[in-house]
Amino acid sequence: MTVLGIETSCDETSVALVRDGRTILSNIVASQIDIHREFDGVVPEIASRMHVEWIRNVYVDCIREAGIGAAEIDGIAVAAHPGLSGSLMVGLNFAKGLSLALGVPFVGVDHVLAHLYAPLLETEIAWPFLGLLVSGGHSMISVVRAYDDVEVLGASIDDACGEAFDKVAIALGIGYPGGKKVDELARRGNPSAFRFPHANLYKSKREYDFSYSGLKNAVINQRDQFWDGVSEKSVENICASFEKTAVDMLVKKVALAVEHTGLRTVVAGGGVAANFYLRKSLDSLEGLNVHFPRLSLCTDNAAMIAALGWEYLRRGEKSGFRLVPQARVLNFRAHS
Ligand code: KG4
Ligand code: ZN
Repeated sequence: MTVLGIETSCDETSVALVRDGRTILSNIVASQIDIHREFDGVVPEIASRMHVEWIRNVYVDCIREAGIGAAEIDGIAVAAHPGLSGSLMVGLNFAKGLSLALGVPFVGVDHVLAHLYAPLLETEIAWPFLGLLVSGGHSMISVVRAYDDVEVLGASIDDACGEAFDKVAIALGIGYPGGKKVDELARRGNPSAFRFPHANLYKSKREYDFSYSGLKNAVINQRDQFWDGVSEKSVENICASFEKTAVDMLVKKVALAVEHTGLRTVVAGGGVAANFYLRKSLDSLEGLNVHFPRLSLCTDNAAMIAALGWEYLRRGEKSGFRLVPQARVLNFRAHS
């Protein structure tokens, strides 16, 4: 079964073709980063307009690269939630139009679930497993019981992890989006140069939650106190110290979840899962099978949407034309 995936939840216009949920025939990702950079963040109105301008060409490129005809598409999967409403609407309407034109079913899938499904494109992983989703919009630790069944153990109560990386990068003047640059600079810095606070939320039901706004502010305050604004080494040291604190908080929660649930397989997804120190730290936890998608499948892409959509479509589950986008995460079970 060949599924066309469409991803427009934020600032990447992406279309992919995936066969039987496992073989990527093509995965085109057109990033709008250069347009949003001057605003130090994604501007929703601009993002949706760019999706409108780009989506047809991205679709044509995808078909061409895969070397198949549109008649060979068996179904369409589209990110329907969560995300920026206007951006999601562009992908969803494109999916509906194509579904009518080609006479094939379409299904709206969850972007967060798709991030946690991405490693299955490369490796067989049995459910249930612990899912760590860390992106620019979400941070969440969960028990993933099936492709459509997630029990959320905890989440960030304020800034998402990637958002904290991005805001620290802006404060240090190293540009947007900053996660990748902080990662690179941190590798040359001393992680013990600055002491930043861990936000420990260990109260009953909140024990899996985490918080990043305090850490972000601590970095900004210490920058003002100790950084002369010139020394390259200081920036590297701040990045390394911030990154160590941000990642250690996540790793601590993962270790806690392993202890409580007894699950020994961990799947990481989302843009921050590309982080070198996070990958190294999780890999060093003893007795665990840790899976990370390859770097290009960590950040937003339509291949993960197509692969997850295949799970629904092969079971005959499809969406109706009344489907509308939702900005928020849907249908996840809360930890009890
Ligand atoms: O999953 P994603 O592409 O988009 C969302 O769904 O949000 O994640 C983007 C986020 C950004 O905040 C970016 O700075 C961060 O992932 N990121 C990283 C790295 N690469 C991307 N953060 C830390 N280290 C990286 N290597
Ligand atoms: Zn994402």
